[in-house]
Amino acid sequence: MSHHLSWPSDDTASDRRRFMQLMLASPIAASLWQSHVAFGEEALPSADDARNVFDFHDVAQEKLSPAIYDFIMGGADDEKTIAANRTAFDKVQIRARRLIDVSNIDTSITLFGTPMATPILIAPIGGQVQVHEQGELATARAAYTRKHTMIASTVTNHSIGEIAEAHTAPVWFQLYASSNRDLVRHLLRNAKEAGCETIALTVDSAALGNRERQMAFGTGRGSGPRQRLGNFEGFPGPPIIGDPSLTWDFIKWLRDETDANILLKGIVTHEDASLCVTHGVDGLIISNHGGRQEESHRGTLEALPEIIAAVDGKVPVLIDGGFRRGTDIFKALAMGASAICIGRPYIWGLASFGEDGVAKVLDLLRAELV
Ligand code: FNR
Repeated sequence: MSHHLSWPSDDTASDRRRFMQLMLASPIAASLWQSHVAFGEEALPSADDARNVFDFHDVAQEKLSPAIYDFIMGGADDEKTIAANRTAFDKVQIRARRLIDVSNIDTSITLFGTPMATPILIAPIGGQVQVHEQGELATARAAYTRKHTMIASTVTNHSIGEIAEAHTAPVWFQLYASSNRDLVRHLLRNAKEAGCETIALTVDSAALGNRERQMAFGTGRGSGPRQRLGNFEGFPGPPIIGDPSLTWDFIKWLRDETDANILLKGIVTHEDASLCVTHGVDGLIISNHGGRQEESHRGTLEALPEIIAAVDGKVPVLIDGGFRRGTDIFKALAMGASAICIGRPYIWGLASFGEDGVAKVLDLLRAELV
């Protein structure tokens, strides 16, 4: 398949790189730069003032209603899976080798024909208009200017066509299965028309997570507030998402329905990773849905080694869940992941400053990784 990429010109990125190099060349300047902001109780004045992604969390918490904030932050039951995703990173420490020329660090990768400036992808998150009026379009524009691949959710407010137009370079489409196969065909058709050549089928959502934070706001088991769902427009039937009867037979069915690359998102064991390979999928994303669906999982980073061993380089292995720092990303890459996806941090950026906030989250993570 051919990809006619039109990432933006490199001028802004290379200006920033030169600036970063200058700053990094001077340890004193770099340390001043790192510590010049002291927010205390004050809100972050602008996206550019953020020191790390957590600064955006604090602004998002202030700006969002408690119902929306808890919808984004929440997870299943006592949220032990969310905690495990973070603590898994602390169990891994870095052994740094010295005297290696690191003056030119190239973080770019190509996956399924899509060139990316960094191995940091935008994880699929639905309903972004509840966070910022421009929703997924702002996320798409930021991802585009920073040359990051975006995986657009099935349940976005804007349609996949609108998102792909805002992003301009190829967008990947996250697919939720439906017990109504005609609806799946409708979603696949829209994704194809929008130019998506890579589909991530989410397989961790046989049931909606028991998210008790949301119940307090009357938004029910696992569901968020109701809004426009652009991808279901034009489909005559009800938008039934999910199919608890899903098995590996569906992968064979999907393979026949689409010529797109197929990734399975939500794999957490070596057994299923091996089945991915035998079923001919093109890649997988280790994910527990950011702890939203099931309680008492391992952190995804803990599942990574057994999955890397089982896949044995046959297909790319991506991973998400709790990535908040460049060192988190570094650890996953060093342990064999091809790329990582971020979820909540870019939503904090979006809630705080729209497109600028998402762009800054991407800039921060890339700079930390380098
Ligand atoms: C998600 N996630 C998700 N995944 C998916 O496949 N389809 C979806 O529509 C959504 N929607 C969604 C909404 C919200 C509010 C969140 C926080 C997450 C899961 C997402 O793609 C990803 O797996 C996690 O967010 C990664 O974990 P972190 O980075 O949020 O810790």
